[in-house]
Amino acid sequence: MRRPLVAGNWKMNGDKKNIATLVAGLLSLKCKADVVVFPPYVYILQVLTGLSGTAVAVGAQNISEYKSGAYTGEISSEMLRDIGCQYCLVGHSERRSLYGENDRQVAKKFHQAQLAGLKPILCLGETLKQREKGKTFDLISAQIDTVLDCAGVNSLSDAIIAYEPVWAIGTGKPATIDQIQLVHQYIREKLGASGVKTRILYGGSVTPANTAELLFQADIDGVLVGGASLDIDTFNEMCQLA
Ligand code: 13P
Repeated sequence: MRRPLVAGNWKMNGDKKNIATLVAGLLSLKCKADVVVFPPYVYILQVLTGLSGTAVAVGAQNISEYKSGAYTGEISSEMLRDIGCQYCLVGHSERRSLYGENDRQVAKKFHQAQLAGLKPILCLGETLKQREKGKTFDLISAQIDTVLDCAGVNSLSDAIIAYEPVWAIGTGKPATIDQIQLVHQYIREKLGASGVKTRILYGGSVTPANTAELLFQADIDGVLVGGASLDIDTFNEMCQLA
């Protein structure tokens, strides 16, 4: 019913040559899951061209919260749609913690993406401190409510959410399956009837070693992979496990 999605977030890594190697590796990929990669902005066109005619989609790691206008240095959802992108990440924890993005800005980005016909992946998750204080569910609830308020009550019904506990990102220490499934179930229940089709991904130290077990869980519909997506054989292996 919910098609698995494997997403590779390349973050600020790579150069023209290395991106060409990743693209070449993706050309031979055959799998049942939906697959999307998020290259750095300047390489998006290179990746779109290289992957044209394949089932692998391309997205942006960030977008502007505005439609168009005098916003020097920003890129709009419509521009991304115009060149052939299908997805974008919004609210990645690195954007929130390093660039001060707040829930309202993230919600506006999510809304702009949907208006332009992009599929936003709403990233959310708690820091270790927030988890230790027992704030995980309240925090996630608030992050979701702001999106519903800004983009509409049904805006998450056919959308994608990525639960990425900040403490599991890039640490080699993923959350446990039980911790993840509990949060995903909480999100699904919070969305009620409108969350039946919502795809909820997990991100944070995902590797081929934990992909199959993650995807076996009732409410885990895919994975958002950082570091391990930069090795194309490893990434393809994860796609095939999905
Ligand atoms: P890692 O897979 O490197 O932990 O990164 C996760 C992430 O931030 C994906 O967006």
